[in-house]
Amino acid sequence: MKILKTTKELIDYRKNLTCNIGLVPTMGALHQGHISLIKESVQKNDNTIVSIFVNPTQFLAGEDFSSYPNRYEADLKICSLAGVDALFMPCTDEMYFENEPTLLAPMKQSYILEGYQRPKHFDGVLRIVLKLLNLSKPTNAYFGKKDTQQLFLIQNMVKTLFIDTTIVPCEIIRDEKGLALSSRNAYLNENEKLQALNISKSLKIASKELMRGELHVNNIKEKMREVLKELDVEYIEITNRKFEKIDIINLKNSIILVATKVGKTRLIDNMWI
Ligand code: PAF
Repeated sequence: MKILKTTKELIDYRKNLTCNIGLVPTMGALHQGHISLIKESVQKNDNTIVSIFVNPTQFLAGEDFSSYPNRYEADLKICSLAGVDALFMPCTDEMYFENEPTLLAPMKQSYILEGYQRPKHFDGVLRIVLKLLNLSKPTNAYFGKKDTQQLFLIQNMVKTLFIDTTIVPCEIIRDEKGLALSSRNAYLNENEKLQALNISKSLKIASKELMRGELHVNNIKEKMREVLKELDVEYIEITNRKFEKIDIINLKNSIILVATKVGKTRLIDNMWI
């Protein structure tokens, strides 16, 4: 596995490839969720590039940018064992310049839900993903459905900026108890881990209600709120796939989204219907 630390190294590496390329952008602290994206890429492409870059522009002041989990040695091993061909690990000065043009995420879908709680977060996400796509020019790029609003905004960017990459959405990976895997789970103590299980439980309750034939958004949200009552809920929303609020669930294209704080840790989860 090649370790590429500069953009020049990545550009040169890319120039020599004429095959199908899969890109898996990450911020490191890799877990089974990332591994599933990597495996999918390794299976479907001739060459897989993984990037590890904790992107400063997507963190708000006071968020965990400086304490974001760093597991350099473990990440290296995971990528190498998973059959990654190249690992791109740039420093901030490689990726950002003074006076560079910036990209703004569309207002309508980037200042609601996650973007309401974290204004400008998606501007930073799109800026870095665009740079990574431009550098590695992948055939396919892999993103998890857990960050479903991010996934939607990236798909929209690729479509509207005519970028020649297919964005591949990958399923949420959960631990054996149902907790959606996230690098931020590392912050949870044992008690918080137990409390966090209520997040996926609330989605299961929603699913049961749907199976009983309940389609009214408010009724389902009420049931979910009961399960989440011990947690500091930021939002429970049910929307269509464009993140527009709905009153009645459409069984073909709705999403149930939850964000809560468990102790100091902010966790999100969702279910595509
Ligand atoms: O989902 C993430 O880990 C990040 O938002 C991403 C896509 C790697 C951009 O920094």
